[in-house]
Amino acid sequence: MSDAGLYVHVPFCSGKCSYCDFVSFPGRAASVPGYLKALEAEAGLRPAARPETLYVGGGTPTELSAEDLAALLGSVRRSYPGPVFEEATVEANPESLTPEKAAALREGGVTRLSLGLQTTDDRLLERIGRRHRFSDAVRAFRLGRDAGFDMSVDLMFGLPGQTLEGLERSLSTVLAMRPEHLSVYGLDVHEDTPFGREGVVHDEDLGRAMFELVIVRARAAGYHHYEISNFALPGRECRHNMLYWRNEDYLGLGPAAVSHQDGERSTNSPGLDEYRSGVLAGRRPLAHAERLEGKEKLGETAMLGLRLLDGAELGPELEEAFARELESLAERGLILRDGRRTRLSSEGLFMANVVASEFVAPFAEAAC
Ligand SMILES: C[S@@+](CC[C@H](N)C(=O)[O-])C[C@H]1O[C@@H](n2cnc3c(N)ncnc32)[C@H](O)[C@@H]1O
Ligand code: SF4
Repeated sequence: MSDAGLYVHVPFCSGKCSYCDFVSFPGRAASVPGYLKALEAEAGLRPAARPETLYVGGGTPTELSAEDLAALLGSVRRSYPGPVFEEATVEANPESLTPEKAAALREGGVTRLSLGLQTTDDRLLERIGRRHRFSDAVRAFRLGRDAGFDMSVDLMFGLPGQTLEGLERSLSTVLAMRPEHLSVYGLDVHEDTPFGREGVVHDEDLGRAMFELVIVRARAAGYHHYEISNFALPGRECRHNMLYWRNEDYLGLGPAAVSHQDGERSTNSPGLDEYRSGVLAGRRPLAHAERLEGKEKLGETAMLGLRLLDGAELGPELEEAFARELESLAERGLILRDGRRTRLSSEGLFMANVVASEFVAPFAEAAC
């Protein structure tokens, strides 16, 4: 089996942020050793040729000790022997990255850190339930830089009480730090989170103004806006995430991890104990698997590919299957068709959900 990328989920956090619906379990540090064994067992059940990229995400990978991070990377190396990963990323949280952990990651072949900074405003960090202050993020960023990692920084906008001026301050400060890569996400309010229960709502106009500000500032600072939420210095785009948008194959290990292999998309079950007991008994705990066929498969390829600002070559089959939708999107000025490539227009960038919805079943003709 050849998977271009490997994702490893680390479902531990020091607490739960008020907006987050990722699968993570605060207060379960005691479960880490058993979890590492379970990951190795799942890797044994799912052999693959050495993938080209590795992404260790969470949760909070840096909640693990330096020894446990080294053990995790060693176990990945043993399970998938071969040449070094061309790119290996680990998500790091500002409060838990230490010099010992940075050294263990470097030693284990990690090339990139993705630092969850979110905002430079300490009051806002507290409001969104983060457990770090901006000074921790500065320290962690320097630590990563000095250890030789490519640095990516995550920022958020549309947070409760966040102003355009506040976002401008965060952007100026972070762009001056010159990370190689920047991911900037508009707040998504999920029902089953403190923000969802609190009834936090979006101000659409402010959200749009904020996204415009992000784009203008990042581009002016020399960053290539290559995906809706992602910016990179030239040549520093995230190769692993490019696999997702190009709908290529990747293997995901851990609870709730998603895999895409040979046309099948599958998701592991999210429960930590269920995951552990399943894989230790020799079973992959699968929550869901589907093989997309025909128009659904084509639609997924279009939806993912159009997230990239360079767009995608949709190909004759897709052009034919979605002729009506593509024509309508072009007429509404949301996509641009340039020779064989199709991409979002500058207006389409702000309406990416509307564009994506055209490619998701039930399709227009099925509904009428
Ligand atoms: C896998 S998550 C968490 C990684 C890491 N534990 C952290 O908190 O930095 C990666 C990024 O997604 C973004 N994110 C998470 N939940 C979000 C939400 N509800 N709306 C928008 N962005 C979100 C945050 O910027 C976060 O850094
Ligand atoms: S945002 Fe990150 S640190 Fe916060 S709960 Fe989610 S995974 Fe954990």
